Amino acid sequence: MNKIQVLDKSFEVYLDATTIQTRVREMAKQISSDLKGERPLFLSILNGSFLFTADLIRNLTIDPEISFIKLASYKGMRSTGSITTAIGLEVDLAGRDVILLEDIVDTGNTLYQFLPHLQQQQPRSVRIATLLHKAEATVHPLVLDYVGFVIPNKFVVGYGLDYDGWGRQYDAIYQLSNP
Ligand code: IMP
Repeated sequence: MNKIQVLDKSFEVYLDATTIQTRVREMAKQISSDLKGERPLFLSILNGSFLFTADLIRNLTIDPEISFIKLASYKGMRSTGSITTAIGLEVDLAGRDVILLEDIVDTGNTLYQFLPHLQQQQPRSVRIATLLHKAEATVHPLVLDYVGFVIPNKFVVGYGLDYDGWGRQYDAIYQLSNP
């Protein structure tokens, strides 16, 4: 399918399934080599990362531990900044090598706010693996250790990514069509 309609918007294929799978395999190979002999904890950030996580994990040659979390942002009653906490984080991170799995880093706000909370638990190391990076849109100095594809600042859906809850099921990634 070259074109799809999601709610009121038209999208066209941007990364096809083969291109995604090839790159995810390369990322898995790189991570396996960097963490050879270790048992890292993969923290997959829901909802968008579920397909990326499933494919990445199946291509690792090391033994992973996997946990899924949701990040929730809320504004403090009095403070102006928002606080990002993890829902579902039950594993003790102390001394662990943690690899965060994200579908897409856009402004970088979510991860930038979450990382200090993660560091409080004193993991041995924290790495970030993201399938997509909208590099032009990122406003925080985040170190992204593994990036699948750097993409332009255009809205995308498919392969786990949604538009208002729709469009996650495709095996390709689609970009908003020009009007
Ligand atoms: P950030 O905090 O701005 O980096 O945004 C990260 C989150 O925004 C991602 O985990 C996605 O859920 C969502 N997001 C950002 N850009 C897109 C997009 O193009 N399509 C779908 N979701 C997106």
